[in-house]
Parts: sequence; C-alpha cells; structure tokens
Amino acid sequence: MKWGKVINRCLPLVNKSPTLTLTSLAKKLKREGKDVVNFAGGEPDFDTPEFIKEAAKEALKEGFTKYTPSTGIPQLKKAIAKKINEENGFSCNEENIIVTAGAKFAIFISLFALLNPQEEVIIPSPYWVSYPEMVKLAGGKVKILPAQEEENFKINPSKLKALITSKTKILILNYPNNPTGITYTKEELEEIAQIIRDSPLFVLSDEVYEKILFDNLAHTSFASLEGVREKTITINSFSKSFSMTGWRIGFMVAPKKIVEEASKIVDHTTSCPNSLAQVAAVKALENNRDWYNFIKDTFQKKRDLIYEKLLECPKLKLIKPQGTFYLFCNIKSTHLNSLEFSSKLLTQSLVAVIPSTGFGEDGYIRVSFATNEENILKGAQRIKEFLAKI
Ligand SMILES: Cc1ncc(COP(=O)(O)O)c(C=O)c1O
Repeated sequence: MKWGKVINRCLPLVNKSPTLTLTSLAKKLKREGKDVVNFAGGEPDFDTPEFIKEAAKEALKEGFTKYTPSTGIPQLKKAIAKKINEENGFSCNEENIIVTAGAKFAIFISLFALLNPQEEVIIPSPYWVSYPEMVKLAGGKVKILPAQEEENFKINPSKLKALITSKTKILILNYPNNPTGITYTKEELEEIAQIIRDSPLFVLSDEVYEKILFDNLAHTSFASLEGVREKTITINSFSKSFSMTGWRIGFMVAPKKIVEEASKIVDHTTSCPNSLAQVAAVKALENNRDWYNFIKDTFQKKRDLIYEKLLECPKLKLIKPQGTFYLFCNIKSTHLNSLEFSSKLLTQSLVAVIPSTGFGEDGYIRVSFATNEENILKGAQRIKEFLAKI
C-alpha cells in the first residue's frame, strides 16, 4: 500500500506531541523500578478537590449519564458566564460559550471554524506544543513570531505588526505562558490590542493558567480590553485551575457567530462534553475562593524552592516564572542542544525534563515543579551534580 496517497495530506506535516513522548518514557522507567524524578509533567500534582468529586458522585447516583446539549448544560454555561463577568472583566452570556472536552478541543474547533486553507496564524515562540500542529490540522499556515530572552520572551509589538499580511487571520496569545511561565501586564496587552484594533486579525487568547499567578500579579483577560471583545476567543479550562486534567472540561468564549459555526464541529464529533464532569465543573465554579488561594500559594512555594535550588547551578540561566508550574532554563552554556541535554539528564541522572525544541526554540529546558518538595529537592540536587559532570 502506498500510504502517502491514502492518508490525509495534512497529517504527514503534523508532529507527535514531544511532551507526551517524554512523559511516557519517564513513566516507563518508573514502572521498571527506576527512581525517576519527573519534572516533565503538565498537570497539577494534587488530586481534584473532594467537593468537586462529590458532585460527580451525586450526579452518577442520580443517573445523569446521557448525552447533554452539545455545547454544554445550561447550568454550566450560566456559571461560566457569571465567572467571566465577575472575574475576567468582560460581559458574555450563554450564547457566547461552548463547553468542550478540555481547552485543547476548544482551541481546535476555534481554529477549524475560522481558518480557510493557507490562511496564516501567528504563533509567538516559545509556544505550547499543540498550537502549530492544530493550525496545520485545520489547513492553516503557521507563522512563528520569535520572542527574545532579553525581552523576557514577550511579544515585540513592532515585530508583530511587521508579520501581518493580507493572509493573516489569527494571533495566538498564551499567558501565563507555557513553557516560559511569563505573563503580561495590562499595559503590555494594551499595546497588542492597539494592533489588533487596527487590523482584521482575531485573537485566540489561551488563559488556562490564569489562576496560577505569583507575587500578587493580576491577570487581565485580553477580551476585557477596549474594542477587542468581538475579535477575541477566550480559551479556558478546569484542567489546571481545579486539577481536573482527566475530566476533560474546557470552554471557549467567543462572538456568537463563531460559537454557532464551531458548535457544528462539536455536534458531529464529540456530541457533547462528559455529562458527570459538567456537573462537577458547576460545583467547582460555585465554591472556589479557598481553592484558588490554595493552588496559588502552593505553587508559589514550589516555585520559590526550585528557583532557589537551581540558582545554585551556574551553568543554568533561569527565567523566573511569574505563573504556571513551569521553570524555563537556558542551558546554552553547556553546549548541548536541548534534546541531548534532556536525554542525558534522564538516562544518566534519572530526571525528566522537556527539551525546548518542541516549543519552537533550542537551548532551553522546561522544568515542571508540579511535584512534591522532596522531589523538587532531589531533582534539583541531581541536576546540580549532572551539570558538574558535563
Ligand atoms: C497552554 C495550554 N493550553 C491548553 C492546554 C490544554 O488544556 P486541557 O487539559 O484543558 O485540554 C494546555 C495543557 O497542557 C496548555 O498548557
């Protein structure tokens, strides 16, 4: 069989997820009895809060086990609209919302709904691994906007402006950012909004880490800025904020026309998000103040600890995370590329990190500190010893 002609022509262009590959290798070594410190994961290390699990149990007992409306149950859409109005500073209602199987699917259907063949999507690098691949799956064209470490990996507005052509359709924003841990101030976002207002671009603003922000920094939703709400799709999720990665509940908030079109994709693919998880998500939004404080404080302590320990490694240059649970490190002084560095670190010192090549940059590693204090100390010590040897 000549598979080249059989398989959809988009797919050979699409790469497998490098983060998932490395995480599974670390898990495999662990299963084989190796004492691996896993700094590669992309999810909070604690369980979903009990009050959320209870809501799902109750829903199961009551037999809430059938298809729901494809874009989500009305109670959840109502709760999301309330959250957006109260916490994110812009108004929306249920017709602006689609609840999806994780933020990932919300991003995919947004891109699929907007992109015509070969229309361009600007993705600032370093970026979350799935954006370029999803753009390709949707038939669009990826345009990378490289960010500079000297500019704290933030978008340079004049470089952004220079990249826009008549074929450019979407700019993807992600803050707090995976993998850099960097976020934007309201003033910095205003500069980007100015460009968006004067252009035909849409913005896909991925804010899934909004609740994991340190040092009393505040999160500003892009859609809350003046004159851009009708051009913005806000993506969010319960995965990181409520430690619910496996429940697969995310959502998009978008202009009604985009919601109408994107919901057709849901109708004919997943049908609806998981029924029990939707009930649990309603509970999460009803009762979250203590929980938000808990995750923020817990991750800030972990951030402080890993940052302090890795500062003891002169060969690393750290980018201090303002949010998320990732620490991005410059490893260029070792003269190893990021893939070599990460494989050696895993095989020789049993520490799993993610090489930055999957994020569109070489010369860095992403260290996830979503793990316990003991692992942070052990992993940091091993990295220190590893660096002393190379
Ligand atoms: C920036 C970013 N967006 C979206 C997602 C996907 O989130 P979900 O689990 O809700 O699909 C992730 C997960 O790692 C992420 O890091």
